[in-house]
Amino acid sequence: MCRPTHFAVTYRINPWMDPAAPYDNALAVSQWEALRQTYLDLGHTVELIDPLPGLPDMVFAANGATVVDGRVLAVQFRDAERADEAPAYAAWFRERGFAVTEPKHTNEGEGDILLAGDVLLAGTGFRTAHASHAETQEVLQRPVISLQLVDPAYYHLDTALAALDDHNVTYYPEAFSPSSRRVLRQLFPEAVLADRADAEAFGLNLVSDGRHVILNTEATGMADKVRAAGYAPVHVELTELKRGGGSVKCAVAELRP
Ligand code: ARG
Repeated sequence: MCRPTHFAVTYRINPWMDPAAPYDNALAVSQWEALRQTYLDLGHTVELIDPLPGLPDMVFAANGATVVDGRVLAVQFRDAERADEAPAYAAWFRERGFAVTEPKHTNEGEGDILLAGDVLLAGTGFRTAHASHAETQEVLQRPVISLQLVDPAYYHLDTALAALDDHNVTYYPEAFSPSSRRVLRQLFPEAVLADRADAEAFGLNLVSDGRHVILNTEATGMADKVRAAGYAPVHVELTELKRGGGSVKCAVAELRP
């Protein structure tokens, strides 16, 4: 995770960001601290990367790398505003002994590449290039399923889909092309389906450890749905990160050593 010391909304690279709207940096930091504490209380280990000035979106650590079995695929951002985050995240992993591969194609890490059991689900359409999906499979050595995102409000896969455990996922069908919806139905017939209100509340941008599902306080409908499916929702307030177009999942890159 990356403390939002320099978090701000100074440019607009997704529809949620409004540089003219107010945001509260101190509140962003305290809400982020509560998210970090939630992981610690649930028994997880949290590693930190130093935030860099001039990179207001660096708090969205999910976009820093994709890690599977200790192999790291570094990232390449679509937008110039975030470009300098990529080498900082790659260096963090290299310094800690991970095998890091530099990407040839644009990919925004776990924003668009999510591990679901044994396979990687990969989004494209807005940020991550389709060509990077083949590269992801070669580097991370897991089958990659390409999914087409069609709604600009759900520009990263992790705003529209999340793994709940090794066997099941939750997703917002309307964020995907009809063909990708069919693929998702085929792979996950028991999936927890989210509706528009869940997606708008960033309810899909969750982190699950297979039992606890951490999601933001606004996502009440999503909490009911995951509870009904047998998981235990844990709420964290993240109003300020939403002004940047992110929530719980965006703020963490999972380390799979
Ligand atoms: N402002 C950031 C961007 O548009 C938000 C990134 C959210 N991260 C995520 N994993 N969805 O790039």
